[in-house]
Amino acid sequence: MNKTILTGIRVNGELTLGNFLGALLPMVRLANQHSKDHQVNIFIPDLHTIISEIDGNLQQNILREIKYYLAAGLAVNENVHFYRQSYVPAHSELTWILNCITPMGEASRMIQFKEKGGDSANVGIFDYPILMAADILLYSATYIPVGEDQFQHLELTRNLAERFNRRFGEVFTVPLKTADQVKFMQQDAGLRIRDLLNPDKKMSKSTPSENSKIMLSDAPEKAAKKIMSATTDSLGKIKFDLFNQPGISNLLQIEALITDTPLQTVITTWAGQTSYGDLKRKVASSISAFLSDFQQQVEQIPDQLVLDLLASGEIYANQVANAKLHQVQKAMGLR
Ligand code: TYM
Repeated sequence: MNKTILTGIRVNGELTLGNFLGALLPMVRLANQHSKDHQVNIFIPDLHTIISEIDGNLQQNILREIKYYLAAGLAVNENVHFYRQSYVPAHSELTWILNCITPMGEASRMIQFKEKGGDSANVGIFDYPILMAADILLYSATYIPVGEDQFQHLELTRNLAERFNRRFGEVFTVPLKTADQVKFMQQDAGLRIRDLLNPDKKMSKSTPSENSKIMLSDAPEKAAKKIMSATTDSLGKIKFDLFNQPGISNLLQIEALITDTPLQTVITTWAGQTSYGDLKRKVASSISAFLSDFQQQVEQIPDQLVLDLLASGEIYANQVANAKLHQVQKAMGLR
């Protein structure tokens, strides 16, 4: 049976460059390499989206996100499936079942829950990693291209799958360990694009400061200015050292990914140079060239094309998910 590669990106508002480089672009590359003999599931986690405020129109945000995959070069064939999570009710049903085998302590340890408010967060935020596990396990997915901030949720998914299989029989495919996910994504380590002003933190949609993050809809000149004002350091040498020079390392990383050049090549090109201004000008020009080309591509994709992809993807997704849910229900005695 074909193995499955699966990912999802929330649509609370515009996507950041972090979402793009950490998840969307790796998914496009993997899909194009493997879709002949793998299933490629790209879904919109709309139920994960409603855990927090939505900026813009949710349906428009959904269409735009799918256009991003297409504009980034994803080649669609019969093995590539787009669907909205809430159009496949089995996700919610399996979440409930998985809730019942998850200790409170295990769910409470999730860093994102703590970061998003802990006890004052809504119950949806608490439960979100378990819904994410359901998203993955319903489709027996093996490969889950995500950024480093989602690794803890992937480990939780593996634990839940193994626990269920031990108690009720071998129903779930256990996704690969994060170290092996990284290898499959052809990365050296999990990816974390940094906040431009505070490079010790990840670039995040929810950071209020505009200059901290690049959004995919930013005017190219505006994005270039944000790069020029990025925080660096006072060491005065260009070196890839995430610990001592996170700002400079972030710029080198962004340059490599956005120009599709191996990171090592970019590091070697800049090694020994001392002008942070030169590096910033180069990254700013790469970002602005990328955004103007990308935004033009997005504009050309009609809504109807996306709606058609969703309609066929949702038929496929319901078939696969309902069959797995039925296996789960039978294994537990619910059917
Ligand atoms: P979300 O919507 O917060 O983020 C979407 C993807 O973008 C990656 N990402 C980053 N990568 C690198 N650097 C950054 N600064 C950065 N910021 C975000 C995230 O790691 C993620 O891959 N729970 C998920 C969505 C989800 C999902 C799933 C993903 C729901 N179910 C099943 C995979 C499989 C989330 O909230 O991601």
